[in-house]
Amino acid sequence: MAILPIRTFGDPGLRERARRIEKVKPLHRRLANNMIETMRVAPGVGLAGNQVGVLERIFVWEVEDEVGVVVNPAIISRSAEVEESDEGCLSLPGLTYPVERSIEVTIEALDERGRPFTRTAEGLLARVFQHEIDHLDGILFVDRLPEALRREAMRELTRMSLGLPPTPPPAPVTSAEETL
Ligand code: NI
Repeated sequence: MAILPIRTFGDPGLRERARRIEKVKPLHRRLANNMIETMRVAPGVGLAGNQVGVLERIFVWEVEDEVGVVVNPAIISRSAEVEESDEGCLSLPGLTYPVERSIEVTIEALDERGRPFTRTAEGLLARVFQHEIDHLDGILFVDRLPEALRREAMRELTRMSLGLPPTPPPAPVTSAEETL
């Protein structure tokens, strides 16, 4: 097994739509094993092909001691109910923002042996599925933020890419009440 370099913001592959895998082969199992090892070392709870420079529709995940490989996923249903929770991404190190996601999703996909399966996930795993499937479509979690937050995130990413420190938080505003 090998640790793969993780592509970060600015890598064009993160913005491309990954191709379907026509036939799941031993090389995909080797890739998945390397992706799982890389995800564990990072550490993270999910890792998509685009993030390691492979533009094929495959991702790995590990939540609550369960690990999985997902090939050619499709979300076949999602709850109308959404929840907001802090999200980060191994390709956008140091950035965390609350993202709204469906609480529950059902996906159809192939496993590492090419066998079809259906899986309904909720909570964190549902969030991971949505985040990783976005990666396969060239979408990053910052794209899901409301416009003002997205602009702020982009500003931070630009600062990081220039090697600048994060913007310091604004000085606390003394309220009128406190000065009375
Ligand atoms: Ni990510």
